[in-house]
Amino acid sequence: MRIAVVTGASSGIGREFAFQIPKLYKNLDELWVVARRTERLRELEDRLGLPVRIFDGDLNRDYIFERIEKELYRRRADIRMLVNSAGYGKAGRFGTIDAKEQLGMVSLNCQALTKLTQICLPYMSRGSRLVNVASAAAFAPQPGFAVYAASKSYVYSLSQALRRELMTQGIIVTAVCPGPVDTEFFQRSGTLPGSFKKAAKADVSRVVRKALKDSAAGKGVSVYGPMMKGLWAASKLIPYSLTTRILKKTNHIE
Ligand SMILES: NC(=O)c1ccc[n+]([C@@H]2O[C@H](COP(=O)([O-])OP(=O)(O)OC[C@H]3O[C@@H](n4cnc5c(N)ncnc54)[C@H](OP(=O)(O)O)[C@@H]3O)[C@@H](O)[C@H]2O)c1
Repeated sequence: MRIAVVTGASSGIGREFAFQIPKLYKNLDELWVVARRTERLRELEDRLGLPVRIFDGDLNRDYIFERIEKELYRRRADIRMLVNSAGYGKAGRFGTIDAKEQLGMVSLNCQALTKLTQICLPYMSRGSRLVNVASAAAFAPQPGFAVYAASKSYVYSLSQALRRELMTQGIIVTAVCPGPVDTEFFQRSGTLPGSFKKAAKADVSRVVRKALKDSAAGKGVSVYGPMMKGLWAASKLIPYSLTTRILKKTNHIE
């Protein structure tokens, strides 16, 4: 059974992947979607011209991975694409953010992504795509968004390393690194630090279209828009000691 697996499919970037993947990959038998809000996932069933298998559950808990693993085995799944999009951020000075939220970010953005990738890899083969949604926040440490940016640096770094490792098996890995995108992300994050707040929010369908195009082209990183591309280039040249000094000022961290 040829499938694509998308986490965070109930909203924003993940949901958009769920919409766009069947249009691009016509030979899939099913789309497997993961998130906590069941109703939102059910809505996808009505809107997609492809059977949808729902995994409604919390990626910070073990049971959801057990369910997915069991189904992968039972259906003899051939994963053509895995999109790890579930994630969240909390903005603010480190000491002001609830410890549960800080650790929740690490758990969902890093641990759950790693765990699902590990479970899915045995079911991926030549031509399969792994798409990890990181962020432009991955490019440099972010005073005022510290844990989130660090968690996304992890996703970015992991993706680049896996890309090398899996190349010989013909599996393509792409890290998607958008700046602000117009989604529900900001309802949970609170007001972003100054440097990000100023950037216009990108249209989610465009960001995902580019990500799928970049993945199809075999690119290792997908960055949408000239501003974020500029930041990416700058981050390779400017040392962290200077970036953090600049960001501390622009993010108004006293
Ligand atoms: N929007 C931006 O500006 C932006 C920029 C760069 C990178 N990103 C990254 O893009 C990814 C998607 O974010 P988004 O903008 O699409 O935000 P979003 O609209 O808030 O979507 C987040 C998704 O993650 C799922 N999720 C959250 N907690 C979960 C949990 N414990 N278990 C399972 N699923 C969970 C949510 O589903 P349920 O609530 O139904 O569980 C939802 O589907 C994230 O990794 C984010 O860091 C976003």
